[in-house]
This record gives sequence, structure tokens and C-alpha cells, in this order.
Amino acid sequence: MHVIILIAFTDGYRTSITSLGENVLHNAPSLINSVYLKKYDWANTNANNFYQQIKRPLYGNHPIELGLDKHIGNLEKDFAKDSLYINLFKQAFPNDDSLFTKEQIEIALVEYEKTLISTESSFDKKAMNANARNGFKLFASKKLNCISCHLPPYFTFATQTNNTDSIYANIGLYNVDGKNEYPQNDEGLSRITHQKSDNGKFKIPSLRNVMLTAPYMHDGSIATIEEVIDMYANGGRSINYGNYKGDGRLHQNKNKLITGFTLSVKEKQDLIEFLTSLTDSSIFYKQSFQNPFNKN
Ligand code: HEC
Repeated sequence: MHVIILIAFTDGYRTSITSLGENVLHNAPSLINSVYLKKYDWANTNANNFYQQIKRPLYGNHPIELGLDKHIGNLEKDFAKDSLYINLFKQAFPNDDSLFTKEQIEIALVEYEKTLISTESSFDKKAMNANARNGFKLFASKKLNCISCHLPPYFTFATQTNNTDSIYANIGLYNVDGKNEYPQNDEGLSRITHQKSDNGKFKIPSLRNVMLTAPYMHDGSIATIEEVIDMYANGGRSINYGNYKGDGRLHQNKNKLITGFTLSVKEKQDLIEFLTSLTDSSIFYKQSFQNPFNKN
């Protein structure tokens, strides 16, 4: 039996599992508000819109995710057997000669993704409590500087500009053997640009609904929000044993804004309260966000 839990349109796994039961490289980012992004994917600058992005999960073979490259013929046949899909595709594409083409499947998925918009958090409704307001002040302060990368309204630069220097950053998570490198199988932007100065750079994720999207970072390597804050307070992460041993705080590409800071217990709680105010729980109740195959 498959149990599917929707956690703000991501999967809750450290890294996602493919149709063949293998792990992909990355932690799945939430799809919510992704229509506003100018770059998709953690470290691939070539995914600039939904249509470019969707190719990899659907047809990609490195790694295989849904594996439709080899099986699209079967998918077409499977849809064609299902009266529900026949009706829906006819309604959606009334002027097309053939149904269930790759193009139609992509259009349908992209149009759906565009509807996943959430702007009803207490932050949006200007309904933050005093602790959360104090947390926001800290978030925006010179001391913490979170806002310089996670800027409102979507709390990421990736909705603001196409400039890769602003969208991707190395926050000092790894420095394997002190060689200024992230783990070789997942080194970040440098995989595409072949520039050493891009090693360890990953896309700045949105922080909307962040309390629902653990575990964190491109590889899901931080389990809780408390640990994320501790990591920033330490100015990065030092790993003392195992394959990835090394002090990420000293990686030469670490962004200048990641300098470390000290927070009192109350301030840390307030910062978490602010991050909690970015949760929009209306997504759990909106009819159009529900699984259409779950009968109430
Ligand atoms: C230099 C830009 C920069 C600054 C400053 C910054 N962040 Fe980030 N943040 C990032 C990037 C880039 C990632 C993803 C890194 C990765 O996965 O390798 C990230 C990831 C996160 C995540 C994980 C989100 C997820 O869905 O996985 C949280 C939470 C977060 N940051 C909160 C903060 C807070 C709180 C501050 C201030 C203390 C802060 N950030 C400061 C760039 C920044």
C-alpha cells in the first residue's frame, strides 16, 4: 500500500525516491508559488521556466525520475483506457486531433502548477504576533542579514532577478578535506559552469511554508529549523568525521554575508516564530489543492 502525505507540496524525504525506488540527488523543493521563480532546480541554470524544468522529472535518464522517456507509449495507452481522463483531456484540448500527446501532458501539468499559489500566511495578513514581529526584525537586521538573500515577498532572490550571482550562494555547508569543495557527486553550480568559484553554490530557496518543508538544504542534510539557525549562527558547518569531513565555514566561496552571530534563547524562539508566520495553512483546506482521487 502506498501512503502519500502531502506536506506543502514536497515529500518530507531527505532526497526524493524515483519510480524505480532509487534516491535522486536532491531534496524536493515545494511547488507552491513556484510560478514566480525565474530559475528552477537547485543548481541548474538552464531551467528557466516550467516547460524547461519538467523535462527532467518526466523524461530524464540521469537519473531516471518518472522514466517516461522509454514508456510514454504505455502512458498514452493507460490514459486512453480511463474514461475520466478521456473526458478531461477532451475538455482541455477540444481542438486537437489526437489526445494524450507528450505536449498535452506537459501543458496540463504546467497549468496545474501555475495554480499552486499561497499568500494567506499571517505575514501576508499582517497578523503576526509580537514575538514574530521581533523575529522579523532580527531576520532583517545587519547582525543576521537573512533578508539579503531571502527577501520578501517570496523570501528568495530567485523570484526577483535572472542574475545567477544573486540567485545562487555557498553558505558554508561543506569543505571536503579542506579542499574548498562540496561532495563531488553534488558540487553545485560549478557542475554546469565549470568555474571553481561556483563550487558549493545552490539556489536560495523560498522560506514560505518553511516549517512544513523539513528536512532542509539541497541534500536534506539538516533535519530541523533549530539546527539551520545554529548552522548560520556558527557561520557555516564543520563536519568532524566521515566522508565529508572538513570545515565548511572556511570554504573560499562561502558568501560574505554568512559571518555567524549570537542569539539569546528568546531571540532564537522569536526568529522561529517569524518563520512560522510564513506558514499558510489554508493550503490544507482549499478544494483545488486536494487530491482529486480522495473522495471526502
Ligand atoms: C548568502 C545568502 C544567504 C543568507 C544571508 C541566508 N541564507 Fe538561508 N539559504 C541560502 C541558500 C543558498 C540556501 C540553500 C543552501 C543549500 O542547500 O546548499 C539557504 C537555505 C536556507 C534554509 C533551508 C530552506 C529549505 O527549504 O531547505 C533556511 C530555513 C534558511 N536558509 C534560513 C535562513 C536564515 C534564518 C538566515 C539568516 C540567519 C539565512 N537563511 C541567511 C542563502 C542564504
